[in-house]
Amino acid sequence: KLPEKVTIKEVGPRDGLQNEPHQISTEHKVAWIDHLSESGLSYIEVTSFVHPKWIPQLADAAEVLSSIQRKPGITYAALVPNMHGLRRALEGNADEVSVFMSASESHNKNNINKTITETLPVLKEVVSEAKRAGKTVRGYVSTVIACPYEGMISPEQVKEIGARLFDMGIDELSLGETIGVAAPTDVERLLDTLLPEFGPDRLAMHFHDTRGTALANVSKALEMGISTFDSALGGLGGCPYAKGAAGNVATEDLAYMLDAMGMETGVRMEALIEAGELMESILGKPLKSKQLEIYRKV
Ligand code: HMG
Ligand code: MG
Repeated sequence: KLPEKVTIKEVGPRDGLQNEPHQISTEHKVAWIDHLSESGLSYIEVTSFVHPKWIPQLADAAEVLSSIQRKPGITYAALVPNMHGLRRALEGNADEVSVFMSASESHNKNNINKTITETLPVLKEVVSEAKRAGKTVRGYVSTVIACPYEGMISPEQVKEIGARLFDMGIDELSLGETIGVAAPTDVERLLDTLLPEFGPDRLAMHFHDTRGTALANVSKALEMGISTFDSALGGLGGCPYAKGAAGNVATEDLAYMLDAMGMETGVRMEALIEAGELMESILGKPLKSKQLEIYRKV
């Protein structure tokens, strides 16, 4: 049975812009996020407090977080890798923080410069301090299907990492299909392993769309009871430490499909298109989504 309501979590300002070669001004980021706030989304991942040497695109994280207009009812989240990042996110009063690590050893090392074993105590402290500060915490596990360095990842490994993150006290686990190679059969195998352990309500899925399978994967996950999905407006994004990976599934394409399947998301297509056009004018190039393509033609 399909869920009646689906939550779309917009990660474009973080996942989208972290991989954008074009330098975007703080003012433009803020204007875009403010536009997104008017589109009926209930969750926006605004930025990340990672090392600016690693992700220079988001070096203005504090300014962005303090300059946006916060609309009541929307959760404004920030990604943090460690205590240093958490302190910066708390100073900026992020509503929620997200911690992240990989199911694969080599992606973890490339992305956050630590082994999995070294990462766990770091995240444990971040989660407990964030909770102490009254924040909800999201956990991401990356490379849930495949790793750019190691190939296929076993669902058992993802379950193991997920269990460690839930033990730390995270409220939700987002399953990152970082490189965008999964097919629905892979998603089924993964969820067959995870659902008996964690149930559908605390899980979200985060599909990148490198091979054009993201919506098919969403559809499989919906059938299996998942009702929270991450997406990025205009299909922006990718992981700088996963070469060649494309952006997340486009928010407007996801919203279209969910609506056409009779599910409620609360988002307004017109407002998403406007936010997409705004980002196209900022970047000076068209974004990659079917809805924007269609809109340009008619
Ligand atoms: P490191 O160099 O190992 O850090 O980087 P360190 O702890 O050894 O510290 C070195 C220096 O960095 C110190 O400064 C720290 O203070 C400073 P120094 O004493 O030398 O002057 N530092 C920081 N500065 C600002 N903010 C911080 C911070 N932390 C330390 N937070 C680190 C480790 C994790 C910081 C680095 O590897 C990093 O920033 N990595 C981020 C990589 C990243 O952002 N990747 C993309 C996001 S994940 C993703 O996209 C996947 C996802 O979308 C899901 C999916 O698709 O699968 C979530
Ligand atoms: Mg991602």
